[in-house]
Amino acid sequence: MTTTIEYRNVSMSFGTGAQAVRALDPTNFKIGNQEFLMIVGPSGCGKSTLLHVTSGLLKPTTGEVLLDGQPITAPGPDKALVFQNFSLFPWKTVWENIDFGLRINNLPRDEREARVRHYIKLTGLSGFEHRYPRQLSGGMQQRVAIARSFVLRPRVLLMDEPFAALDAQNRAIMQEELVRIWSEQRSTVLFITHSVEEAVYLADRVMVMSRRPGQIKEVIDVGAVTGASHWRTRPLNDVASDAKFQNLRHHVWESVRSEISPLVGA
Ligand SMILES: Nc1ncnc2c1ncn2[C@@H]1O[C@H](COP(=O)(O)OP(=O)(O)O)[C@@H](O)[C@H]1O
Ligand SMILES: [Mg+2]
Repeated sequence: MTTTIEYRNVSMSFGTGAQAVRALDPTNFKIGNQEFLMIVGPSGCGKSTLLHVTSGLLKPTTGEVLLDGQPITAPGPDKALVFQNFSLFPWKTVWENIDFGLRINNLPRDEREARVRHYIKLTGLSGFEHRYPRQLSGGMQQRVAIARSFVLRPRVLLMDEPFAALDAQNRAIMQEELVRIWSEQRSTVLFITHSVEEAVYLADRVMVMSRRPGQIKEVIDVGAVTGASHWRTRPLNDVASDAKFQNLRHHVWESVRSEISPLVGA
């Protein structure tokens, strides 16, 4: 099964009249099958809006988003969202949190159990099945959030700054785990980050958005630079000294920086 996403003239305004906020200007774009797209841009430029429109949670003001040619009209288990603040159920155990999406989608019990067990193992949560979120570190909670979305085997994985709250070490571990799970499962990934380094490290392509109302400013084909042995297949620490990596990181950083308005009066 392929998974392509196409934006046709997609724009978003919040509110009406003089109070209207234009969050996203008309956007046309195609995301390829199993692509890992990283999205960067200044705060408030419409990144989350673009993700929410893709998830089906928000209906765009104009245009439509097509998933394999079919308009996206509602959220569903084929499109999983991971947020920065995890949003785990505090009163449910690790197992119950991961199982939740499968239950509400009425999967048979055997299938649910097999899948939950598989992803608990894959995310290194074995032995913690019956703990509650408050009994886990931030990094482990984030793994539960990731397991909970992967267990749905979504065709589209939407990640909104999922690692922003993690320290550098846990972030590096989670990036590697994400790549490992993704290479087994190959969802199409849209991943928002404010870390230019993370964007260049993980992306097949990096989308840079302009300041609000957001537009696509530039799309950088990282895969064309790395070739078959992509940076994400090696630890970031090893890649960081690569001159090609540094050049791209610099390029993307300059592109984002020029979109950040200088502080008024500063
Ligand atoms: N539900 C909403 N109602 C009104 N304004 C919103 C709403 N959601 C987002 N916005 C506005 O739209 C703009 C883009 O927001 P957002 O997509 O969250 O930006 P980003 O994720 O890039 O920081 C911002 O100016 C924000 O205040
Ligand atoms: Mg956002």
